[in-house]
Amino acid sequence: MDRAPGLSVRLKLTLSYAGFLMLAGVLLLAAVWVFLLRYVPERATLISHDDNPTNGVFPVRSALLDVFAPRAAAVLAFLLVFGLLGGWILAGRMLAPVTRITDATRRATHGSLSHRIRLPGRNDEFRELADTFDTMLARLEAHVAEQRRFAANASHELRTPLAISKALLDVARADPNRDIGELIDRLHAVNTRAIDLTEALLLVSRAEQRSFTREPVDLSLVAEEATETLLPLAEKHGVTIETGGDITPTTGSPALLLQLTTNLLHNAIVHNLPGQGTVWVNTGVRPRTAVLTVENTGEKLTPQLVSTLTEPFQRGTERIHTDQAGVGLGLAIVKTITHAHDGTLTLTPRSAGGIRITVELPR
Ligand SMILES: Nc1ncnc2c1ncn2[C@@H]1O[C@H](COP(=O)(O)OP(=O)(O)O)[C@@H](O)[C@H]1O
Ligand SMILES: [Mg+2]
Repeated sequence: MDRAPGLSVRLKLTLSYAGFLMLAGVLLLAAVWVFLLRYVPERATLISHDDNPTNGVFPVRSALLDVFAPRAAAVLAFLLVFGLLGGWILAGRMLAPVTRITDATRRATHGSLSHRIRLPGRNDEFRELADTFDTMLARLEAHVAEQRRFAANASHELRTPLAISKALLDVARADPNRDIGELIDRLHAVNTRAIDLTEALLLVSRAEQRSFTREPVDLSLVAEEATETLLPLAEKHGVTIETGGDITPTTGSPALLLQLTTNLLHNAIVHNLPGQGTVWVNTGVRPRTAVLTVENTGEKLTPQLVSTLTEPFQRGTERIHTDQAGVGLGLAIVKTITHAHDGTLTLTPRSAGGIRITVELPR
């Protein structure tokens, strides 16, 4: 932003410091003068006992003023010089942190997010500002790094189906007598996967932009709908779904919340014990929040592993190319949607194996 040039803060502080010092000096001298006036009469009569010709009436006050005025002026002049010099030095010392903070801001503007102010000394307003700024820089840096990782991973994931398609087409071209039907089936599967991935990416960005309208939503109905949709999949995997819970009102995007619930339920079904798994879906209200819990049996997981699962393209321990392998964005989407609704997402491994996932949304 272009602004009209103005006085520097250091100069302003110096001037006000000197100004106050002058004002105090003037007041003090005025007080001294008033004090003197009270004890010094206007005129004095000097009576000499010998025959001195100096006998007579003298203007004592004006004589005093003649002596006082130049000294007072000297004192004020000294105060002025002292105030300006002292003020300049003091203001410079006080404002030194601002220079460091400005310097760091300028570097950040030019893209260097790794620089920190690290203002030394005990806590005061400037240190607090600098520390807050350092925290902001650290978060920004982490965020930018995360975005870069995300873009790199997304490109990599998108390239995979394209590369597979190309390989399939190359093989088909080299051998025209191959079974076309099989080729088409495989191309179709690869293509579907690429579309799923692209749709998941679009969903992440849509939720991140928070560009959805908020309506009243009952989480228990959302859970019911998701369960109904995924019942055939659960049957196929031999997984029992147990649902429970009362009306759980919250506000948000019904479509996104359905997506969130579906992702959680889908995971709970496919990452479960084969043939004998159970999934528990529950909704309920707490004093300030509406809560959705999805819990499932499964392999034992360590807390360290569980804490990484919400990262985009993180796929736990399973081999990537089994048929239940998703695109690895399911939980990342859940996290993004939860945050877009100002909620919290908690993943806890169950001691008997499997995982318990809690989504808390404001009511
Ligand atoms: N309910 C769950 N039970 C056990 N493991 C899970 C569950 N949900 C997710 N996971 C693990 O977290 C990983 C990431 O999940 P997700 O982001 O949905 O990706 P995807 O399902 O596409 O692999 C999964 O690969 C799986 O290992
Ligand atoms: Mg998934």
